[in-house]
Amino acid sequence: MADVITTLLAKMTLDEKIGQLNLVIAGDAVTGATVSEGVEQKIASGAVGGMFGVYGATPVRALQNVALEKTRLKIPLIFGLDVIHGHRTIFPIPLGLSCSWDMAMIENIARLSGDEAAAEGLHWVFSPMVDITRDPRWGRCAEAAGEDAYLGSRISAAMVRGYQQNGENSVLACVKHFALYGAAEAGRDYHTADMSRLAMFEQYFPPYKAAVDAGVASVMTSFNDVEGIPATGNKWLLDDVLRKQWGFKGFTVSDYTSVNEMIDHGMGDLQTVSALALKAGLDMDMVGEGFLTTLKKSLDEGKVSENDITTACGRILRAKQQLGLFDNPFKNLRDESPAEIILSPKHRATARDAAARSCVLLKNDGDILPLRRDAKIALIGPLADDKRNMQGTWSIAGNWEECVSILQGMKNAAPAAEITTALGANVTDDPLIAAKVNIFGEKVILDPRTPDELIAEAVSTAELAEVIVAVVGEAQEMSGEAASRADIGLPGNQSALIAALAATGKPLVMVFLSGRPLVIVNESKQAGAILAMWFGGTEAGNGVADVLFGDYNPAGKLSMSFPYAVGQIPVYYNHKKTGRPYAGEFPGVVDVPSKFRSRYLDIPNEPLYPFGFGLSYTKFEYSDVTLSETAARGNASITAAVTVMNTGNYDGEETVQLYITDPVASISRPVRELKDFQKIALKRGESQTVTFTITTDHLKFYNNDLHHDWEAGTFIIQIGPHSAQLRSASITWEK
Ligand code: NOJ
Repeated sequence: MADVITTLLAKMTLDEKIGQLNLVIAGDAVTGATVSEGVEQKIASGAVGGMFGVYGATPVRALQNVALEKTRLKIPLIFGLDVIHGHRTIFPIPLGLSCSWDMAMIENIARLSGDEAAAEGLHWVFSPMVDITRDPRWGRCAEAAGEDAYLGSRISAAMVRGYQQNGENSVLACVKHFALYGAAEAGRDYHTADMSRLAMFEQYFPPYKAAVDAGVASVMTSFNDVEGIPATGNKWLLDDVLRKQWGFKGFTVSDYTSVNEMIDHGMGDLQTVSALALKAGLDMDMVGEGFLTTLKKSLDEGKVSENDITTACGRILRAKQQLGLFDNPFKNLRDESPAEIILSPKHRATARDAAARSCVLLKNDGDILPLRRDAKIALIGPLADDKRNMQGTWSIAGNWEECVSILQGMKNAAPAAEITTALGANVTDDPLIAAKVNIFGEKVILDPRTPDELIAEAVSTAELAEVIVAVVGEAQEMSGEAASRADIGLPGNQSALIAALAATGKPLVMVFLSGRPLVIVNESKQAGAILAMWFGGTEAGNGVADVLFGDYNPAGKLSMSFPYAVGQIPVYYNHKKTGRPYAGEFPGVVDVPSKFRSRYLDIPNEPLYPFGFGLSYTKFEYSDVTLSETAARGNASITAAVTVMNTGNYDGEETVQLYITDPVASISRPVRELKDFQKIALKRGESQTVTFTITTDHLKFYNNDLHHDWEAGTFIIQIGPHSAQLRSASITWEK
């Protein structure tokens, strides 16, 4: 017996089927040069399958009613939105969340975001964004989970579960951007990406595949080309890899006008590129209407088949069925946005906790932090008393007025502290850059005083205090889409501000907001303590204050390396080996042996702060690594253990990281790769043995024939607090 969708498809005209493939935008989520027009009339004529950019009872109900009342078959619309790190309650940006290494928290945040989105009539979120990125110039690293395929995969799966396994509030997730978008050359957004298939399968594909394995309902294609063919029209990617190799059963959607953009990629006119995309396996066309306006002609000319169109339409209808929209097109929609969900105390408490857990303590000389609650504090910097830049990029439905500033958070946490403030610097002094980052509303308001005047005022304020907390960094739209930066130091005059504050000789804590790793080599010498807080979301101020005053002991670990200089990029921990490794030289000695080595003349090879790095107010000591066996055979499973002891003065959490090196193989393998981690909590004085189980799955890699397997030999098992501080033990593993 034919199922409901097959029966429905049999009743549909060609126009009705093509209409289902059309995704239009309404409202203010515009991220391209084109905007959908005549939306209501198009819905009424059956030319729309879904929309995004609108949420809330009134518009969603009205537009859904047009589909239900005016179209012949009354097929409900699917409503989507970029719910990236929260809907109305904004959680830290994804890069920040990834630094928590806290999978349960990340899954829960996806769930709470889905609850809010569902209550406002949304069915579909354009998340998780899982593009691996090794280039902090790329503004969209703010939206991603960092440089590592394993950590990225764990986060990808956790988010899909959070969105999709949420009972009646489940929304469909959309993993993006398939594929390789994070490898945009030179970190310039929308630029080409080029890499070997080995790198694709080993480094860049795993997080997309993890989403597929977790049952993700939809996949968004990327803007870039993959091996010369734009992802949106790339059959190898969308059909061979995604559907045939990985078994993806859901629907694919283009990115914003990425079908049309294939014209600029040089693939032909709109009819040609639309047919190419459909044939490649693209089901839904976002905004550009190439499918809507050309597929019929292509069918007449035999360039696509009716079956191609029916297949794409069927996949979209099945997603609507999966959501239950045929039974209830207004699923979860509430007439009033429910206060027990939207920005509820529970959601705000989770956001506060997440803001604290995303912070990474990069330096804390002399234990400047945590601050005393009765301290005399000079709170300086353009982002110290600011609510407009707390949410971070992609917070479409978030309202900055709901946010807690750092100043407010510190006052809440320490009412007895004497806090004096000064601006110190503008985020940028360049009115053109200010105008560019104010495109979605005024985020940067320039103080007309000169940089010298602002610094002079800040220094006088600082001189009267016991400790300086400088809150500096990027404005929120300095990262995110189309927000690449070539110079990724502190913008504007903020580096000079830090230098001037350091020169007062007062203890200096630098807290910085950013959507990317920054180059902060000078600041790392000048400030006594440094805390990366990314963009913390609605509760940023309270979360950071919890860290500053020690109510929460920071435990974040970097998911992206901090480069020493822009010239080091791409810099990432799991690079491959060179035949001329550089082992360092004696300071002040110039010798020939180190000349012909892989190194820079002017900077170290190592990043300023490596992947996995992050300090705590307490200290953790690691024992040597103990293996259950030092020789194994076949499909054995062994354990590797360390004992971690909290030897400092605070209770704390530590993420214990397991890396494996495969020194000799049929292809040159990375110096090491993250394979597992465990986040543990230890009271002061307490110790715990952390045990990892290792199987041959951990040893597998793609060989030159793209065959995924392991090879016999010796493996170095390493465990430690971050990628550059590890203890190791060796095992030989025979077939
Ligand atoms: C373009 C972005 O690349 C994508 O991530 C987003 O989901 C769409 N615009 C829709 O807003």
